[in-house]
Amino acid sequence: MTTEKPLLRALRGETLKTPPVWLMRQAGRYLPEYRATRTQAGSFLELCYNPELATEVTLQPIRRFGFDAAIVFADILLLPQALGRKLWFETGEGPRLEPLTTMDAVERLAPNEAMHTHLAPVYETMRRLSTALPAQTALIGFAGAPWTVATYMIAGRGKDQQAGALTLMREAPDVFAALMKRLEEATADYLIAQLDAGAEVLKLFDSWAGALAHDPAAFEKWCIAPTTAIMARIREQRGDVPMIGFPREAGALYSDYARATGVACVAIDTAVSPEWARDTLQPLAAVQGNLDPALVVEGGDAMARATRRIIDALGGGPFIFNLGHGVTPDADPRNVEQLLRLVRG
Ligand code: CP3
Repeated sequence: MTTEKPLLRALRGETLKTPPVWLMRQAGRYLPEYRATRTQAGSFLELCYNPELATEVTLQPIRRFGFDAAIVFADILLLPQALGRKLWFETGEGPRLEPLTTMDAVERLAPNEAMHTHLAPVYETMRRLSTALPAQTALIGFAGAPWTVATYMIAGRGKDQQAGALTLMREAPDVFAALMKRLEEATADYLIAQLDAGAEVLKLFDSWAGALAHDPAAFEKWCIAPTTAIMARIREQRGDVPMIGFPREAGALYSDYARATGVACVAIDTAVSPEWARDTLQPLAAVQGNLDPALVVEGGDAMARATRRIIDALGGGPFIFNLGHGVTPDADPRNVEQLLRLVRG
């Protein structure tokens, strides 16, 4: 009898009879209790920086559904803010940052000590969670991967942001490379601080990796290499820590990513066939995914059939059930309940 948490067992390569399950954006607007706490906090960012309320919203989906993992409530864009860039959220439109395109601006990014001071509330949330979670629930810390964070920092917004970064990469390659280097160091240190505050698993979100996937050399240089460097720095300082990598929309390059980075787990998006993932990725790493979030809105037979197909394909190896992207605000919490019954039998 092992008492190790199911999610950690899957990350070590074990095949479990019942796969561990959690959902990206499981703490979010589809839950009435989240909306109430966000109103109490004042805004999304105030919620992120309030350890008491951020702990509360992280725990809400755990209480309601008993997921196998909790992911600390924060955002990938807190890091650029901690490096001194202005960040705000336009209602209904998503994040905005002041665009960064010059070497001077890269050189003026705050040092890591200032970054840690700014992010201290996130570490405090992590410490609170590490004692508040049920015994079977694993605690996940996370960051955006350098490429994805750079796309937002360069374009300043969540639309066509890959285009801005790709243009800077072409027209000012030294500025782009300096920014990526700085993000690599900052991200590794941010993740190490989350470990020290109680995280047991780390996840790197490379949500815009797909914008590099047309060019395997660029994908290697700006997605795979920074991820590998971050993992090496963490291993050097804290030993082996399970990492979930999510190079969203990497397509066929998912297998290069799994092989080259050596992540414990690859998270797959909705475009990846679960059978392909079983044959190509699961021999290399645990696989996490990949139900379409739209099916959690729809529910019923369509959700049940797709869930069954994913489990049939991937349940015979190391596997974590999740969505292919985050839960959407229009998802029905009753469908999430139904989904858990389907996964857990
Ligand atoms: O439950 C969890 O998953 C934990 C918290 C979490 C959030 N964002 C909270 C959030 C995590 C892990 C993230 C990661 C994140 N943030 C990513 C990577 C994953 C992905 O979605 O591709 C990205 C690209 C961001 C940047 C970001 N934050 C965007 C583009 C947006 C706007 C889109 C939206 O859903 O509104 C956010 C806002 C955000 N981050 C919300 C939440 C719960 C919604 C904010 C609100 O309450 O209004």
